Amino acid sequence: MRKNLIAGNWKMNTNHLEAIQMVQKLSYRLDPADYERVDVVVCPPFTALRSAQTVIETDHLGIKLGAQNVDWHDNGAFTGEISPLMLHKLSVSHVIVGHSERRQLFGETDEVVNTKANAVIAAGMTPIVCVGETEDERDAGEAEARVGTQIRASIEGIDSESVASIVVAYEPIWAIGTGRTASADDAGAMCSFVREQIRDSFGDAAESTRVLYGGSVNPGNVAGLMAKQDIDGGLVGGASLDPDTFASVVRYWV
Ligand code: 13P
Repeated sequence: MRKNLIAGNWKMNTNHLEAIQMVQKLSYRLDPADYERVDVVVCPPFTALRSAQTVIETDHLGIKLGAQNVDWHDNGAFTGEISPLMLHKLSVSHVIVGHSERRQLFGETDEVVNTKANAVIAAGMTPIVCVGETEDERDAGEAEARVGTQIRASIEGIDSESVASIVVAYEPIWAIGTGRTASADDAGAMCSFVREQIRDSFGDAAESTRVLYGGSVNPGNVAGLMAKQDIDGGLVGGASLDPDTFASVVRYWV
């Protein structure tokens, strides 16, 4: 049985004071029963992690803390970078690696994503490994080929035990921030395809890996997506910035 996971990727939004309010507001809208059903993760910018951590720990909230990116070195002369050890010390449990915006705007390759994913695991955290095709690739019938290459290369070298506990997010690039969600059938089929790829390399561990869908998830479409066998949750951008809206996504069955 895979527990559902819904993660809010705040991207480059919110200062640390706004982050405190958002975490508090979200917590008022969620009950203990919600956390039993869904792992709820928020991924604020680096500058808000410490503040979010303090609220979560002081108020004993069930919300988990995620980061949006990481470097793979432990420390050293890497100006501007943040290490897995630094994130772990802030009680960060999940780290997004290989988001399409990192791949497209900051030149991250599958090899870089793979190195980051391994470093996150080595530091005792869970990577949320993102994959997804462009609109051109989908139109050319190459979505599976693209996503297959990305997923295999991004999780190479991870041991089977760890693969069982990582999270993979299928985020078609054409659906991110566009309001154009993949249909539940298409998203479900691609998430099944992702799981098959993991199964090919890692066998039964793939049954435990959580596969999320991301791309214009909102309170109106989340239930249909979650009904799909191989969709275990969502990676939510825009709709995670309003605590009311995000709480409605988390409570998708209500
Ligand atoms: P939107 O939900 O805004 O489309 O963003 C999706 C995303 O990129 C989450 O990582």
